[in-house]
Amino acid sequence: MIYLKTPDEIEAMRPAADLVSRTMGEVARWIAPGVTTRKLDTIAREFIRDNGGKPACLGYEGFPGTLCIEVNETVVHGFPSNYALRDGDIVGIDTVVELNGFMGDMCYTFAVGNVADEVMQLCRTTRESLYVGIEACKVGHRVGDIANAVQTYCEKRGYSVVREMCGHGIGRHMHESPEVPNYGRRGTGPALRNGMCLCIEPMINLGSRNIVIESDGWTCRTRDRKPSAHYEHTLALLDNQTHVLTTFDYIHQAIEDRFN
Ligand code: MF3
Ligand code: CO
Repeated sequence: MIYLKTPDEIEAMRPAADLVSRTMGEVARWIAPGVTTRKLDTIAREFIRDNGGKPACLGYEGFPGTLCIEVNETVVHGFPSNYALRDGDIVGIDTVVELNGFMGDMCYTFAVGNVADEVMQLCRTTRESLYVGIEACKVGHRVGDIANAVQTYCEKRGYSVVREMCGHGIGRHMHESPEVPNYGRRGTGPALRNGMCLCIEPMINLGSRNIVIESDGWTCRTRDRKPSAHYEHTLALLDNQTHVLTTFDYIHQAIEDRFN
């Protein structure tokens, strides 16, 4: 069942979305060769708690971190570890914050040092496809319109779309109905209505779309071990308008501050 939120409930989503956005901005300051993903996880956990939030991934169905860590061929749900980031890596950081009973969810794939052009291009296209999906996410459209927009954008450029993992509804719970796939047909799926809050999160591969789940039961990587990129925003539909509740502004500001 798709639970439609009241305008007050959507208003209450904003602080959670803002805190997860600021958390990602904080993490962005630390991303560099030599930094362990566990260090990033600790920074995020403390930042969230210092700001009155709860790291919603930590302990979720047994997940062992605040952040999902997605290095290179990892698609989603990697664990924080003593792995130290290396020059040329890409690392997706995906996290969910709970604040005052509501969830904000976002993901950003960062370049560590100098990254190969074809991998940078994968990241750029994946990020653009998120906005193409957002553009299709309008009251009166259907979930399949978002899915088809993302798929078409990425496949036209030679990339492949992971099919086993989806975006989702969000609210008081991290995962609510409906599922929001990144592939599908226009005009299909649930209708997009005022009161819906959705996470759109393209997971796009340089090589084939096939994935493998590691023996830890979580870590999802590409079967061909080629890189995968992942970006995510939390959105709300209200008054026939699409509101993007999370923002990459804090991340981009942090990256700018570091290189100037
Ligand atoms: N954004 C991720 C998702 O929607 C967050 C997962 S948190 C975890 O799947 F705890 F499940 F890892
Ligand atoms: Co999500």
